[in-house]
Amino acid sequence: MLWLRPHMRTQVGIVGAGPAGLILGQLLTRAGIESVVLENRSREYVQHRVRAGVLEQGTVDLLAEIGVGERMRREGIVHHGLELRFGHRGHRIALSDLTGGRAITVYGQQEVVKDLIDARLADGAPLYFEVDEVRVDGFDSPDPRIRFREQGGEAHELECDFIAGCDGFHGVCRPSFPDGALRVYEREYPYGWLGILAAVPPSTEELIYCNHERGFALHSLRSPEISRLYLQCDPHDQIEQWSDERIWQEMHTRFATDDGWELREGPILEKGITPMRSFVVEPMQHGRLYLAGDAAHIVPPTGAKGLNLAAHDVGVLADAIIASYAHGDQSLLDAYSGTCLRRIWRVQHFSWWMTSMLHRSPDADSFEERLQRAQLDYVCRSEAAARTLAENYVGLASV
Ligand code: FAD
Ligand code: PHB
Repeated sequence: MLWLRPHMRTQVGIVGAGPAGLILGQLLTRAGIESVVLENRSREYVQHRVRAGVLEQGTVDLLAEIGVGERMRREGIVHHGLELRFGHRGHRIALSDLTGGRAITVYGQQEVVKDLIDARLADGAPLYFEVDEVRVDGFDSPDPRIRFREQGGEAHELECDFIAGCDGFHGVCRPSFPDGALRVYEREYPYGWLGILAAVPPSTEELIYCNHERGFALHSLRSPEISRLYLQCDPHDQIEQWSDERIWQEMHTRFATDDGWELREGPILEKGITPMRSFVVEPMQHGRLYLAGDAAHIVPPTGAKGLNLAAHDVGVLADAIIASYAHGDQSLLDAYSGTCLRRIWRVQHFSWWMTSMLHRSPDADSFEERLQRAQLDYVCRSEAAARTLAENYVGLASV
């Protein structure tokens, strides 16, 4: 860890060491631009937070390009298809055949974060964990600054040219926009996801997205020894209501097929409940403060898009910052929000569509159930409909 001084200066101040902040830092370092990353949690905590698992081809390419692709290439698992399961039967969507060979890679978000932290520290680039009371200021002027405190200690001020708000949905950057500067678009869903990590070899080679009358279920994985599974639940459920036995029983019920497919059980290493929401703010910038990733938008996880969108945002932001230093060209920075929002809304629609097709609303009537089944049937029978799912799932090259 580098020593902190009361007054410091850098080119780009980055709030948050999640995927967005760390990828941005890496892109800037490689372009010879200085940055400081400030994170309010411990290194241990951010490296063990279990979240996303599916990387689009574009994200994999970006991570490889910035020099953190080596372990991902070794340990990541490339998938060329997925299964939609409904009516007790499985239907394969051949992702790669439908998209000219594109694929997804299953590699845990915490592994991506570990690789990025290792790379940043190896470069000697500043990254401070466990900072408190982070405040962003002066971004309306040419002299933005970030004030913060070392945990239980001294106050510091970081002067910079730009501030990147990569501090997630509950961060401080978005609430620092002036009153009335942001328009919020939002939808809450009447269900949550109960996610588990289990020490058992996956019961499937490809991800299974399962629609069942008792609710959605998803079988994913992390490695040949570790499975990751999710169940739709009430968003107000407490995790204590879900004993390991109840979780496995519900998984067996929802994944059951007519052809005797078997779900393997194993010790549950971790479990938690996440609410589901769609959320976007417009614009994503004010003066010299730029939001990226979950700080600006949230998608329900059914499309596996959050981390991928975060990576896309910071790719656009890095290009814009680099152009501004290289030739004083502000046009990419001015266009940042608009450029990102085109993809964000496409992905919002896809994530909402997957979510509505696969979940069971508590107040769904039989009409809605029939519509849902008609849509699932169509996606599995029509190549055009399957291709729509596939090209969005593996990630659109351009929007
Ligand atoms: P975050 O990962 O939230 O990082 C923000 C960082 O800022 C955090 O480290 C936080 O501690 C820090 N921070 C917050 N406040 C402050 C502050 N005041 N000062 C300093 N630091 C601060 N996405 C996918 O692409 N594919 C998937 O398969 C997928 N599955 C998911 C499954 C689940 C159960 C969940 C919950 C999410 C899933 N996502 C998925 C979404 C994905 O995890 C997020 O979109 C991604 O983490 C966004 O990255 P980020 O860097 O923008 O935000
Ligand atoms: C995961 O592996 O965590 C995962 C996979 C697919 C999703 C969401 C999460 O849609």
